[in-house]
Amino acid sequence: MIKMIWDHVIKNGYIYNGTDFIKGNLYINDGKIAAISENELEGEAKKTTDANEKYVLPGFIDTHVHSRDPGATYKEDFYYSTQAAAAGGVTTVFEMPNTNPPINNVENLYKQKDNLTPKAHVDFGIWGICLGDLNRNEILPLHEAGVIGFKFFWGYAINSETFQLAYNYKDGDEGVIPPLPDGEVYDIFKEVEKTGQILAIHAENNEIIQRLTKQVEDSGRRDYEALLEGRPNLAEEMTIQSGIAMAKKLGTRLHILHVSTGEGVKLVRQSQAEGYPITSETCPHFLFLSNEDYEKVGPQMKVYPPVKYKKDQDELWRGIQDGTVSIVCSDHAPHTEEEKDGDLWSIPAGMCGVETLAPLLLNAVSEGKITLKQVCDLLSENPAKQYGIYPNKGSLAVGTDADITIVDMNAEMIIKRENLHSKSKVTAFDQFPVKGVPAATIVRGVTVMEEGQIVSEPIGQMIKPIK
Ligand code: NCD
Ligand code: ZN
Repeated sequence: MIKMIWDHVIKNGYIYNGTDFIKGNLYINDGKIAAISENELEGEAKKTTDANEKYVLPGFIDTHVHSRDPGATYKEDFYYSTQAAAAGGVTTVFEMPNTNPPINNVENLYKQKDNLTPKAHVDFGIWGICLGDLNRNEILPLHEAGVIGFKFFWGYAINSETFQLAYNYKDGDEGVIPPLPDGEVYDIFKEVEKTGQILAIHAENNEIIQRLTKQVEDSGRRDYEALLEGRPNLAEEMTIQSGIAMAKKLGTRLHILHVSTGEGVKLVRQSQAEGYPITSETCPHFLFLSNEDYEKVGPQMKVYPPVKYKKDQDELWRGIQDGTVSIVCSDHAPHTEEEKDGDLWSIPAGMCGVETLAPLLLNAVSEGKITLKQVCDLLSENPAKQYGIYPNKGSLAVGTDADITIVDMNAEMIIKRENLHSKSKVTAFDQFPVKGVPAATIVRGVTVMEEGQIVSEPIGQMIKPIK
């Protein structure tokens, strides 16, 4: 009889089977999950990991990562961001398209694949960007070429040469294309609908923001409350409302990125109740912070959309509990520490997040806010299903990619900015204590992170949705 040889056996774990956690062993061969068994299977293992009653979960997916690569690699790059991902238990990231050059056509997509692959410690999908009339004809080719979804930065002005986002646009600024008019946006919805893929929107109404921001700025106020008055809940509500209205008419699979308001959650909930394929995500900074934290955290927590009020936080949690919000992702958007260390109004928006996403959610499990099964849904199964990569990603089904995150729910850790693997260490969660920590990250059978250490060279590959 031929003796079975296993590449890697993970023993004595609580293995997630999509419904329950089963005590047993997981066997990996050729980068795939070969077997899961409550009993020990015959054969010899090249590598054995004693999970010692830790949890063995489908690898986490962070669908919202800005690695600034290429274009602003002094802030972050893919070599760093994917180490941060692996350190945080993330096995797949979706890279955002607002790079320089942006992912606005197939040529730039292929260049981006070649640029990212040698630096990738985890697998990755690549978003395509919608620039309105500037690249409407590129949407179908980008779909054919395998983007993971389409992103539209609704309400942002962009640099007319580089198409980079203008963070603090004012009417009349030179060298920028102002935010697109609704008619052009409508055509984006129409074009993306033809692909059957997700259209993900940054939802903040620029006209409201410009007007109200000017009013508070003129008053001389520079505090966080003033920032929120200039960039109010209403701005998000109005754009989500317009987006939903267009998606209902056109059948577009609309996804609302980084929802920050209770109003947003309610609109999405209502559209789902009416049967439309509209989805939403939120981020740890909206779930674990509110305006009340600004005094303690400071400008590091400036992000667009801004972190709102306690009542918004509560509604976001309700949205998670009833499934309105189906994904939690980081919106990892680093800037340098120097850039973030200034006047609240002039500094850029965004912070690191890919490494702290899972620890913060696991801590929420320890605190009884959600269950570990919900974490598997929010970080693995739901994103994989929504973006068309399930069950190869997002499940531990036999025969699929061995993307695995082992988590230790008894381990305690204090998040410290200096320990982050990102190039710049800008986080709103410095000194935040967590219970529940990723202990190992395995990508297609390769152990990439073990006990906080990166233990592999870049082995990540680009993934495309299943058509
Ligand atoms: C993002 C960035 O810097 O790329 N910033 C942010 O505050 N979230 C852009 C974005 O997603 O809006
Ligand atoms: Zn955004």
